[in-house]
Amino acid sequence: MLRLTVIGTGYLGATHAACMAELGYEVLGYDVDEVKISALQSGKVPFYEPELPELLARHVAGGRVAFTTDIDEVANFGDVHFLCVGTPQQPNGYAADLRYVHAAIETLAPRLRRPCLVVGKSTVPVGTATTLATRIAELAPAGADVELAWNPEFLREGFAVRDTLRPDRLVIGVQTSRAERVLREIYAPLLDAGVPLVVTDFPTAELVKTAANAFLATKISFINAMAEICEVVGADVVQLSEALGYDPRIGKRFLQAGLGFGGGCLPKDIRAFRARAEELGAAEAVAFLAEVDAINMRRRARVVELARRECGEDFTGRRVAVLGAAFKPNSDDIRDSPALDVAETIRRAGAHVSIYDPEAMPNAAARYPQLDYAKTAFAACENADVVLHLTEWQEFREIDPAALGEIVAQRRIIDGRNVLDPNLWRAAGWMYRGLGRP
Ligand code: UGA
Repeated sequence: MLRLTVIGTGYLGATHAACMAELGYEVLGYDVDEVKISALQSGKVPFYEPELPELLARHVAGGRVAFTTDIDEVANFGDVHFLCVGTPQQPNGYAADLRYVHAAIETLAPRLRRPCLVVGKSTVPVGTATTLATRIAELAPAGADVELAWNPEFLREGFAVRDTLRPDRLVIGVQTSRAERVLREIYAPLLDAGVPLVVTDFPTAELVKTAANAFLATKISFINAMAEICEVVGADVVQLSEALGYDPRIGKRFLQAGLGFGGGCLPKDIRAFRARAEELGAAEAVAFLAEVDAINMRRRARVVELARRECGEDFTGRRVAVLGAAFKPNSDDIRDSPALDVAETIRRAGAHVSIYDPEAMPNAAARYPQLDYAKTAFAACENADVVLHLTEWQEFREIDPAALGEIVAQRRIIDGRNVLDPNLWRAAGWMYRGLGRP
């Protein structure tokens, strides 16, 4: 049976390692971060992801998955090496920062002395795979016996295990039938279960991922643009979205108007796409993504504006409660979190901001120590002049508006995610305001 390694053990890599073990493979995970590796080695997931802790603990205990910081061990172990390192936005620009991808190849390739397949899963600008294949050919002692394939990942945080074991589709970019055979073998349990497979070349495989995230971001910004219009004419974007969604050509998913998208993927991926298109002399083709980004950022400004209005046009000395810090529910990820962006903007404008999130508080507090973190949703709302609901955790939907009304200074709530029931809140004496709703 093929032995697999996973290079980079963040959300993607840790999940991939555990899921490949679940498929029956022996897996060795590698990372340069020793703290992360020692947690994983003891069966602990260093971030919040439903289903993953049980899966990982089981396969670490069973010996099917192990973790190391020793790259020589990785090179000796693997028949297939999955590249799962991060590709964040560059600190001083829109392009993707590929330093971790290059570093992984530069360290691994010179150690590849036997036939193997390197499989890129990281989200990269189109053209990267071809460059990496050339570099591997230059560096690997095993020469032509080492090959590269590109196999983009489409998992969502919060559903990572499910998305890996039952993806909507598998995409593999290959240069030879040998590489295709190996990947078909690895994913045989998924393919047998009917998961569609698209076999293609490198640039297409890379682009599928970029295009998918660009499309999803565009869909969200489309409905948020409609929300802006709804706000002007007094229409209701929630009903508009529902009515649009019944058309199967449009579909209702990713059509939820609100505070917009954040996270470690959609925002940086649309920016990296623009940067890459510009390098390729094709900037015009994706110029619309600048607008998608701008619409998305305007939603954050809109929530700040609405909150300011509820505070009598001046935040100074006001108490603002923020429910939610993660970029979306069922995650403790705060990368480019719209909720925290809004909270910090309001704090800088002079308000006292008290925030609560079921899972993301440690990450939020490390990044924004200046905000005030409450132990519960109710504690965050004590004496609040306005409550902002910014990440739609189930826990917040279950709040009893009457009970919460007892402890706030003013019964005013802005629902940045349009998921609370306005009738319920209004019946309990609250001023309820959604985004793009009358
Ligand atoms: C996204 C993609 O959905 C995955 O397919 C992809 O694999 C992943 O990026 C990646 O590139 O690694 P993720 O970042 O986990 O996954 O989050 P999403 O579920 O896509 O949500 C992104 C943001 O959009 C969140 O802030 C969410 O609140 C927002 N959103 C989503 C909306 O504002 N409205 C919607 O209707 C849907």
